[in-house]
Amino acid sequence: MKIFLRFLLPLILIICALAYAVVPLVDSLTIKWFARDIEARSKLIFSTIQEPLAELITAQENKGKNKIERLFSKATQDERLYAMALCDKNNTLFVKNSTFPDDITCPTSNSYNMMKELPSGPIYIASYVLYHPTDSNLKIGELILLHDLSFIERRSALTKEYIIYFLVSLGMIIALLTIIVAKISFLGWMKGIRALVNGELLWNKSAKATSPEFDPILRDLRHFVREVEKERRFRDEVRISWNPKALKGILQKELLDEEVIIVSNREPYLHVKKENKIEIQFPASGVVTALEPIMRACSGTWIAHGSGSADREVVDKNDRIVVPPDAPSYTLRRVWLSKEEEDGYYLGFANEGLWPLCHIAHVRPIFRSSDWQVYQKVNKKFAEAVAKEAKTKNPVILVQDYHFALLPKLINELLPKATIITFWHIPWPNPESFGICPWKDEILEGLLGSTIIGFHTQFHCNNFIETVDRYLECRIDRANSSISFKGKLSAVNNYPISIEYPVRWSKNAKSIETCRSDVLIKHNIRAETLIGVGVDRMDYTKGILERFRSVERLFEAFPEWIGKFVFIQIAAPSRSSIDNYQRFSNEVEVLASKINHKFSSGNYVPIVLIAEHRDPAAVFEYYRASNFCFVSSLHDGMNLVAKEYLAAKDDELGMLILSQFAGAAQELPEAIIVNPYDIDQCAQAINSALSMSVTEQKERMQSMRSYIQEFNVYRWAGRMLMDAARLRRRNKILGKISL
Ligand code: G6P
Repeated sequence: MKIFLRFLLPLILIICALAYAVVPLVDSLTIKWFARDIEARSKLIFSTIQEPLAELITAQENKGKNKIERLFSKATQDERLYAMALCDKNNTLFVKNSTFPDDITCPTSNSYNMMKELPSGPIYIASYVLYHPTDSNLKIGELILLHDLSFIERRSALTKEYIIYFLVSLGMIIALLTIIVAKISFLGWMKGIRALVNGELLWNKSAKATSPEFDPILRDLRHFVREVEKERRFRDEVRISWNPKALKGILQKELLDEEVIIVSNREPYLHVKKENKIEIQFPASGVVTALEPIMRACSGTWIAHGSGSADREVVDKNDRIVVPPDAPSYTLRRVWLSKEEEDGYYLGFANEGLWPLCHIAHVRPIFRSSDWQVYQKVNKKFAEAVAKEAKTKNPVILVQDYHFALLPKLINELLPKATIITFWHIPWPNPESFGICPWKDEILEGLLGSTIIGFHTQFHCNNFIETVDRYLECRIDRANSSISFKGKLSAVNNYPISIEYPVRWSKNAKSIETCRSDVLIKHNIRAETLIGVGVDRMDYTKGILERFRSVERLFEAFPEWIGKFVFIQIAAPSRSSIDNYQRFSNEVEVLASKINHKFSSGNYVPIVLIAEHRDPAAVFEYYRASNFCFVSSLHDGMNLVAKEYLAAKDDELGMLILSQFAGAAQELPEAIIVNPYDIDQCAQAINSALSMSVTEQKERMQSMRSYIQEFNVYRWAGRMLMDAARLRRRNKILGKISL
């Protein structure tokens, strides 16, 4: 109706006005043209019959009259020549055909050249004087021709009809063209608005609006939205006291209780067979440590590789099991891998290729195309498992780590409406280093299937953006940390991971004193001895050799500590079928024995190496028993051991020695920060930790503990989920206005 009133009605009025003005004009013009045409015809007829007619008139009277009559009847067969008559030299009607009207007489003075209206229609009358064939001055008669003009009326009516048709068609073509042009420009506007809502234009400074009219709006809007988002994010984050309830609240309020699916390679619980019994094991994985409390809070489904020796025995027919065993609250869906798949995807491509590629630990990455094939295959297998587990079309999917670089794109293909948050738990190298990977483009493209890509630090976000910029054709908005690739926008944000606070193990924990005495007794250590602790997987990125060398240097530089200090290293075996890991494990054992050999006396052994897996509760006890914890990673995404140690020390005593190359160092400057390659500095750090005053210990520990209390793992997940909710809202609006 609106279109009719605004557009079609004025158009119809214009066409009517045009018809009103143009039709009579064209009509009179056509009549004039036809009249001129009739005149010319008339002359032509006369000049054609003039000669034979003159001869017939001068011939013998009666014979000539008959012939003239026949000539007239032949000539008037032309439908437009209505009638003919011949007047003699005395102006008396001599011959006429049957249609000649009675009331038309011979011209008296002047010849006819006029129109006349007859009952049968209008006619044109013309008369021509006939002269003697041999004497051109001698008048022998006058020929009268009557032309039928009714065809002009018919033609004129037809012309009018055609003009109206023409005007209506013209109007319709104009209307159609206008609608098309309007639609195209409307689409341009819509595209602009969509891009605005989508954030492509908003977040991508280098992107140009499709319509220049958007430019000023865009400028203001960019500024405004950025400010509002920053402020809102900060306000929301600060207002919330981060705990499982708050996380649940975000899921309910912001994500309308949408289902949450986590995908990681490592599963949170392994069922293993031990002496004909099935036991549950918690793996040594920072990723699992962080995600488990999140999953408890969110419920949902966790999809992971079923790697425990008894895993298959406890799942249902859909390979699912409800966990945690003590308080079932979410589903663990196990994905089975063959030995070849585990070798190619996990040990090969992920851990011999991507792991050393992303860590600067001076271990060469190994890339085999056979591993790559398997890596692709396994990523596909997990994508299918995700699609199968998803109960809705738009779940929130949290993809974890370098094992699944291709998964976001694959999931996106299967569940285009899903919100995919990918978290890369390890460092991201600079573009040159990453360029070593023969399948770098595929990996980047895979990750850019995510809605959000998360790293622990801004530095790793920057490295990722630089890498994408170097190798892919895409649009990057650095100010807003987003990448638009093949029409899909991915936000790249830093979310420093953390631990649950308070930790689960603190609930029924033994007192610090009991923990300490238990540990001392277990390892046959004298009562007053100070304890340092290191907890890692047996991995060459963790700086375990450097740590031991620092202990050795401590004894060389500060011999007073010999006999008074013991360093306990827990090193859970990891990826032990990989050559580099085996070599490393041997080196660690050899170095520990060498140092022990050098500084042992009696029962005193300076380094206790526990190259075995310990459950989190047992590790917690070691943390509590120790005077300091040494995290000497050569390169690490975050390192949660640092935070776990702080959480365990509720007496606020002790100290954290932390590598500057672990992501945690950026959040915990109150720790003693060291360069693990600088052995003297590390030895000095151990000495400082051992001799630090109680007041200083308390000051530093209080500050660090209150930080991790506030910036706990619920905040980590909550921030990602809140960002995901914001993006989902944006996409919803986008969906509504999309045409
Ligand atoms: C690192 C990785 C995790 C992995 C963990 C343990 O923290 O970022 O994804 O789970 O190491 O390694 P593993 O190979 O035993 O799972």
